Amino acid sequence: MCSESSTEWSVEGFIHDTLGDEKGDTRFEVADIPLPGDVTLHLLHTTKGIQVDMENMDHDNTGMKIWPVAREFCEYLHTQRERLSGRNILELGAGTGMCGLYTSHLCRRVMITDGDDAVVSIVKKNVELNGLKNVLVEKLWWGDHLSTERLLRENSEGYDVIIGSEILYHESHAPSLVQTVNQLLSSKGGLFIMAIAVRIRSVLNTLIQLTSNSGWKQIATDYSLTNTPRSANFSFRTLLVWEVPSGCDVREKERRESEVKIDPEEQLEGDCKLS
Ligand SMILES: C[S@@+](CC[C@H](N)C(=O)[O-])C[C@H]1O[C@@H](n2cnc3c(N)ncnc32)[C@H](O)[C@@H]1O
Repeated sequence: MCSESSTEWSVEGFIHDTLGDEKGDTRFEVADIPLPGDVTLHLLHTTKGIQVDMENMDHDNTGMKIWPVAREFCEYLHTQRERLSGRNILELGAGTGMCGLYTSHLCRRVMITDGDDAVVSIVKKNVELNGLKNVLVEKLWWGDHLSTERLLRENSEGYDVIIGSEILYHESHAPSLVQTVNQLLSSKGGLFIMAIAVRIRSVLNTLIQLTSNSGWKQIATDYSLTNTPRSANFSFRTLLVWEVPSGCDVREKERRESEVKIDPEEQLEGDCKLS
């Protein structure tokens, strides 16, 4: 897909040991991917067709392949290199890690995260394949408060920019995504840059509503990705940039608490009266 040149790579042991593919029929290869600024990434990824499974959102192996938006996102990040220079970046839902690995060439340090164990193993392999020293990889499932805390402790300087490419395709994941970004940027604020292929309009609408509730300021929307060839199963691609203010997680918590004003005891009495 993204590869100008691909090398077959012996991953038999890797598949069995790390990905637990008992049949051993998942094909992996390393693709050499040229990106802006004379950077070529070597990326282990699967060539098997993986679809987003909208019915089963508890299991997600979509990150084993490289999604088309990732390359376009890297091109966008290249245009933002002055903004990223010297910064600490964290990637959410990294998949093969293409965007985070590319960003490591533009910034100070990158923490690459994904919520899927097998996908995290692939990213670690990809960090090794590219010999990158300013990259760390950790598992992070959004909404996991303790893991997010640990990521914050691991980097005393905090994160300046959070990035994510093709990470949201189901409304039910939008609240935990916003909550995690709030927690990560709460101490000093920062930017959240996200590329999205919109398959269901309400997913984007929900996200925009939640970000506005949290006091994020949308500072850019770039629909230029719309011009790229589209597949039948999504309506458009776009790129969104938000300024996330400091203290956003506290404000969001207060807002949620003020919404739930009903005393459980009163609620019970009310319920009894009705019966
Ligand atoms: C469609 S893939 C995109 C991968 C990569 N960013 C790209 O553009 O090639 C979505 C990735 O997001 C991760 N993901 C989805 N929902 C998540 C969640 N709630 N918490 C953490 N990771 C999640 C998946 O594991 C998967 O690797």
